Amino acid sequence: MSKLNRRELLKGAGVLLAAGTLPVSMVEMAFADNSKNFTFAYISDSHIQQIKGNIFVRNWDRGLIRSVAETNLMDPKPDFVFYGGDIAQLGKKSEIDHGLEILSGLRQKVHYVMGEHDYYLDLGEHWKKRLGPDYYSFDHKGVHFVVLNSILTYDDWTYNRWADGVERMNVMAGLDDHRGSPFMVGEKQRAWLKKDLAGVDLNTPVIVFSHSPLQKIYRGWNFWTEDAEQIQALLKPFKKVNVFYGHVHQIQYNQIGNISFHSAMATAWPWPYPESNAKDASHLPKLTVQMNRADPFFERDATGWQYIDIHSGNAAMTFSLTDNSTRTVAFNPETNRPEDTRYQNNRIPPQDHY
Ligand SMILES: [Fe+2]
Ligand SMILES: [Fe+2]
Repeated sequence: MSKLNRRELLKGAGVLLAAGTLPVSMVEMAFADNSKNFTFAYISDSHIQQIKGNIFVRNWDRGLIRSVAETNLMDPKPDFVFYGGDIAQLGKKSEIDHGLEILSGLRQKVHYVMGEHDYYLDLGEHWKKRLGPDYYSFDHKGVHFVVLNSILTYDDWTYNRWADGVERMNVMAGLDDHRGSPFMVGEKQRAWLKKDLAGVDLNTPVIVFSHSPLQKIYRGWNFWTEDAEQIQALLKPFKKVNVFYGHVHQIQYNQIGNISFHSAMATAWPWPYPESNAKDASHLPKLTVQMNRADPFFERDATGWQYIDIHSGNAAMTFSLTDNSTRTVAFNPETNRPEDTRYQNNRIPPQDHY
């Protein structure tokens, strides 16, 4: 793929921008029949956090407010919006309600994915009351969309180990809290998914949304889904599969068999890479493509937006980072995996700050 400058990118994306970057993702589906093409936007990980009463952490509010405003400016207008999970920081009703109040400014229908920060205080009760089922599927212009709740865990951990929901939520909210438990989709949803996919033609593009990656990246930080292989096996017969996930607050990409994996950035803050954990050299599995990105210690470097162009089931994504160089990650047919078109082999990509 040729180098794409910012002007060409924006022209190609058809996005109207006054200035700056968008903390949302825009996805364009490309089909042989142009009338079938459509776009959708993706916003994730706002972590709305209550300090006291009606006072909330301002930075997290601002990230979400900005993404809503800029989504509404997109031209062409996205057909719908996906919200990738972690509306709240500690699962409180007040946090979910405050986040949804901001999101109510969107003009399009929003499809929601549940994050662990929305779940572990009351086991998703308030989230479901406001938003409905936590797993479902629908078809849109020839594409089959599936939403999974991937942040469940073992019953014993969920129901028997903690004094109350607050303690349970606080443990799960810690990135490296060793008392946490691995995420999973679970048997019930896997049975549902199998049934759901049974009615879908194998040539139909399938797009799956989850909160945690449906691949195993690093268990210590729950960049992980315990039953990832079983989900992948159910998706294997389909020719065109893309999985989009939030949770990791950073750029990640991978290819496992027929499935392309792409993370979305957060509107709140970036997480570091697992390999930057000083205790271990690397936790990346063999199949994961070595990745690079902006500096996580500059808060807005890894918050931004991405334009996703899907041709023949392969995604080419351009990440526009607020304070750093634009990155393009495109499918490389020679290596059969998505790769950063400029920085793939750089251990440390150039930083605009230095
Ligand atoms: Fe998150
Ligand atoms: Fe999360």
